Amino acid sequence: MRILVTGGSGYIGSHTVLALISNGYKVTVIDNLSNSSQIPINRIECLLNTNIDFINCDLRSSKDLCKVFSQFKFDSVIHFASLKAVGESVIQPLRYYENNVYGTLNLLKVMEKYDVRNLIFSSSATVYGKEAKVPYKEGYKLGTPSSPYGSSKVMIERILQDQVLANKNFKIVSLRYFNPIGAHKSGKIGEDPKGTPNNLLPFITQVAIGKRKKLKVFGNDYDTKDGTCQRDYLHVMDLADGHVKAIQWLDKNIQNNNVEIFNLGTGKPVSVLEIINTFKEVTGVSIDYEFAPRRSGDLDSFWADTTKANNLLSWKTKFDLNQMISDSWNWQIKNPNGY
Ligand code: NAD
Ligand code: UFG
Repeated sequence: MRILVTGGSGYIGSHTVLALISNGYKVTVIDNLSNSSQIPINRIECLLNTNIDFINCDLRSSKDLCKVFSQFKFDSVIHFASLKAVGESVIQPLRYYENNVYGTLNLLKVMEKYDVRNLIFSSSATVYGKEAKVPYKEGYKLGTPSSPYGSSKVMIERILQDQVLANKNFKIVSLRYFNPIGAHKSGKIGEDPKGTPNNLLPFITQVAIGKRKKLKVFGNDYDTKDGTCQRDYLHVMDLADGHVKAIQWLDKNIQNNNVEIFNLGTGKPVSVLEIINTFKEVTGVSIDYEFAPRRSGDLDSFWADTTKANNLLSWKTKFDLNQMISDSWNWQIKNPNGY
């Protein structure tokens, strides 16, 4: 089985490429390297003693996509490629819609042309919007996210639903990720944000290693157990394994006319202060922090109902918070300046 992985040199993509190859899949990666480099691909090649077909290709170019699809015969596509910085999307909405929505439309058209019908899409918990009750369940209606980034995911989910209705041969799974953290245990691949990290864990590891002075904890007056926001953090290797399970499941089980949606999380809410305290317990390093005003658009607390993925995909997370933090730290100390 050969899988096309779009955005495969990014954070989640690279860990999934590693998991796919470890499970016997052949992989072709396309990425325009707008938020990554080819180094993670080279490192996976060394780790697994294999060659990976990598093509520098932008999803917005149908001509380049067609070239890739005529070169290889794909059984399925896993579509990670996307811009993902929530704050940036508020400032540059058109860039986000063009990249994420138009890029996906192009991919779907080229898949149709080359008769490739199986797709796994990277969605996000943000599509539940601010009104949804926790824990989030897949059966809820799509909500109104607080950023153009989130709206681009909602739009794509709608497009995918219309596509399977119109074209019965398409089989599509949308995976809604909660908060992936951690890194592969080797410390060879991990999360390598450009500039100032937006996400909590990379910011914390950069404070711990001395690259940044202090963490700002955005808000301590939320309606949660300690006043700081709660999220459902999961290990990126568990998330990668979710994709392998979804690929295996999709071909045999999916019903026509439906995009099958799965939450991928642990089902457990963890607060910002709990992350900071666990970081100290696991690594011995204290994080200097101060409370700061709330970050616009943040929700107080959300986590996944994981029953569906547990039952249908036989997927369960294996790694606990200590392991997630220990692996994030291992990656940071082995790569103080990223790749
Ligand atoms: P990432 O930025 O590390 O990876 C995305 C990759 O896509 C990058 O390598 C980038 O260069 C590539 N890319 C972007 N636009 C492209 C284009 N037009 N053509 C080709 N390549 C392009 O991000 P990630 O954290 O690995 O996220 C992967 C997917 O998961 C994204 O769709 C993201 O929205 C989704 N997601 C991420 C999180 C998270 O917390 N990291 C949470 C929910 C959903
Ligand atoms: N936080 C801080 N200080 C920081 C960074 C984050 O206090 O410097 C807090 C945030 O306020 C939030 C929590 O840490 O309460 C987690 O924030 P992240 O930015 O790491 O994650 P989010 O839950 O805001 O968003 C992430 C992805 C989104 C995705 C969402 C749901 O960045 O793309 O998870 O999957 F939509």
